[in-house]
Amino acid sequence: MVKSTGIKKRTAIFISGNGSNMKNLIKFSKIKSSPIMVDLVISSNKKSNAIQYLKKNKINFKVFNFKQKNKDERKISDILKKRNTQLICLAGFMKILSGSFIKKFNGKILNIHPSLLPKYKGLNTHERAIINREKFSGCTVHFVNSKLDSGKIIIQKKVRINKKDDPKSLSKKILKQEHLLYPKALKKILSKT
Ligand code: GRF
Repeated sequence: MVKSTGIKKRTAIFISGNGSNMKNLIKFSKIKSSPIMVDLVISSNKKSNAIQYLKKNKINFKVFNFKQKNKDERKISDILKKRNTQLICLAGFMKILSGSFIKKFNGKILNIHPSLLPKYKGLNTHERAIINREKFSGCTVHFVNSKLDSGKIIIQKKVRINKKDDPKSLSKKILKQEHLLYPKALKKILSKT
């Protein structure tokens, strides 16, 4: 479990894609009452749009392509230990971390997933929810354990699926809610009040 000391938690964010959740968490971390400070970003994708943003905002980042997963995970975990990282936020991170990496940071890794877990673990959540004619989907912030998208749920937000929704429109609606939900989840587990 993540213990709250009242001091901002040194946080690393892991990304692979656009990094909109990352940008949102960075903005959130700058608020005085935020329980996190973003110390480092790890990207599995050197072409991520987010890299420009990180350079511009002078935020430490490192790129690992995970082609040699064990080696990269060892390097990352050394970096995180050295930097005294207290929390890892996966935000659109498309690589599956090994059990041994997760064990090293047990209870300190969070993920955001674009479905109402335990429904629709894994990829293509929006397509599957629409094909199954679900009335609702949503997003979930959860702790990460060694089973994909199966760790303890911290918080969820329901989003209605309209008849006209396609995966793109649904993903847009849910992403908007993700940006509200991740900070809420962090406050829930880290703030005293
Ligand atoms: C989000 O929907 C996240 O839940 C999913 O991938 C998307 C990433 O978006 N895992 P972004 O990179 O944060 O913009």
